[in-house]
Amino acid sequence: MSDRVLIVDFGSQVTQLIARRVREAGVYCEIHPFNRVSAESITAFGAKGVILSGGPASVADFGSPRAPDGLFALGLPILGICYGQQTLCEQLGGKVEPGDHREFGRAMLTLVEPCALFEGVVAKGEQTQVWMSHGDRVTALPPGFKVVGTSEGAPFAAIANAEKRIYGVQFHPEVVHTPIGKQLLSNFVHKIAGCAGDWTMKAFRAQEIAKVRAQVGKGRVICGLSGGVDSSVVAALLHEAIGDQLVCVFVDTGFMRSGESEQVVSVFRDRFNIKLVHKDASELFLSKLAGQTDPEKKRKTIGATFIDVFEEEARAVGGADFLAQGTLYPDVIESVSFTGGPSVTIKSHHNVGGLPERMNMKLVEPLRELFKDEVRALGRELGLPDDMVGRHPFPGPGLAIRVPGQPLTRENLDILRKADSIYLDEIRKAGLYDQIWQAFAVLLPVRTVGVMGDSRSYDYACALRAVTSTDGMTADFYPFEMAFIGRVANRIINEVKGINRVTYDITSKPPGTIEWE
Ligand code: XMP
Repeated sequence: MSDRVLIVDFGSQVTQLIARRVREAGVYCEIHPFNRVSAESITAFGAKGVILSGGPASVADFGSPRAPDGLFALGLPILGICYGQQTLCEQLGGKVEPGDHREFGRAMLTLVEPCALFEGVVAKGEQTQVWMSHGDRVTALPPGFKVVGTSEGAPFAAIANAEKRIYGVQFHPEVVHTPIGKQLLSNFVHKIAGCAGDWTMKAFRAQEIAKVRAQVGKGRVICGLSGGVDSSVVAALLHEAIGDQLVCVFVDTGFMRSGESEQVVSVFRDRFNIKLVHKDASELFLSKLAGQTDPEKKRKTIGATFIDVFEEEARAVGGADFLAQGTLYPDVIESVSFTGGPSVTIKSHHNVGGLPERMNMKLVEPLRELFKDEVRALGRELGLPDDMVGRHPFPGPGLAIRVPGQPLTRENLDILRKADSIYLDEIRKAGLYDQIWQAFAVLLPVRTVGVMGDSRSYDYACALRAVTSTDGMTADFYPFEMAFIGRVANRIINEVKGINRVTYDITSKPPGTIEWE
């Protein structure tokens, strides 16, 4: 087993980034909520080091979270970040007070003492930019600690007890605005905690294959393929682990993008030689959606129809003991919610929830420990084509939620598919694909007047959307050059019969959403 680090989550918005940076340093780590960890669980996990995350609470508040008391007696290297630093100070006998001047954003840190955390990165007396976000601050150190870095708003910006290998920083090393942050975290896990750094996708592949074999035994596994990155990687990995015990079912809704269904079949059946059932259910989906325009009803109908078809196909191949799913680590992490209470459903993204319960199958989830970029790296490692692995996210209901305000027909879906494919083709040719989170066309429910040649046209308008984002939760429109959009619009209007007007959507999320429905 690779060396591992445990991150205790106090509910910071950026805790996941700590895990990303640690894994980029080749060290396996997991995030556990503060109220689920104890000295025993840390020992059982086999942590070689512990990182205490930031969080929104104030150490001064009654009942605010703490690290498990037994942690400090384990003798493990510890790094406290922001709230994590404050609580470790308070718990070890220091003092934390509400700051008279809050510090948010960029600050300059001066290193006043040499420190293992900063080794090879910043020398004594040098300054470096860090990212702060705190109200409270440490005002008196616990015994055995000394200040190693200061900033204008935080005289205790970096502290250390080198003998006990306990470190604290008031700033956030995990965010990109702390340019040296990645190296600091790398120093902590390698030089201070002594982790080897051998957690690579190659190692993960071998480890996960052994795990799957042990879990599945001689059982049969069924995997729903969608053409997206996650299910593709799951299928390729399982195939390598259990060969013909795996059957993949590709339910073709008819809402895929141009060329996508063909690619799924050619990659998995022809190249990987995976047992694949390709069910063209487009007729059924269209008939179930006939006349529907309400976005949520469409999602529900598509989800339910998908489950019906999938079940039927699974039965037809003789059933299975296990269902494989592409669940990722962000879905698994139980982030600590300080606001509590149910939030409003804006869109029901999880279209096929409840499938394993209904089909009475056990789950195989080989990507449960990975972030999206790690899934991509694993896909490359497994030999999946680059354009499949690097593909933009695509919603389960597909093009069906990109024809808002009018009933779906084969005709309007085809028009949309052509426009979308031209748009993506131009984006790829301009070398912009990888800078964009998602780009797609939307067919609008209006017809507009145009003049083509000498005659009048009365056709659809379409909208182009392209956004940048890191997680799909917030997004901004992509600032194309006007000449680029002009070129795309020209091609769409000239090449797609049925569209005579093109617009570009410049709405951010919030207040908009990425999809139009
Ligand atoms: P929104 O439109 O909510 O989208 O800003 C955020 C991300 O989720 C995708 N999305 C979906 N994915 N089923 C899915 O599997 C859905 O019903 C669905 N709706 C939106 C969207 O493409 C974006 O990546």
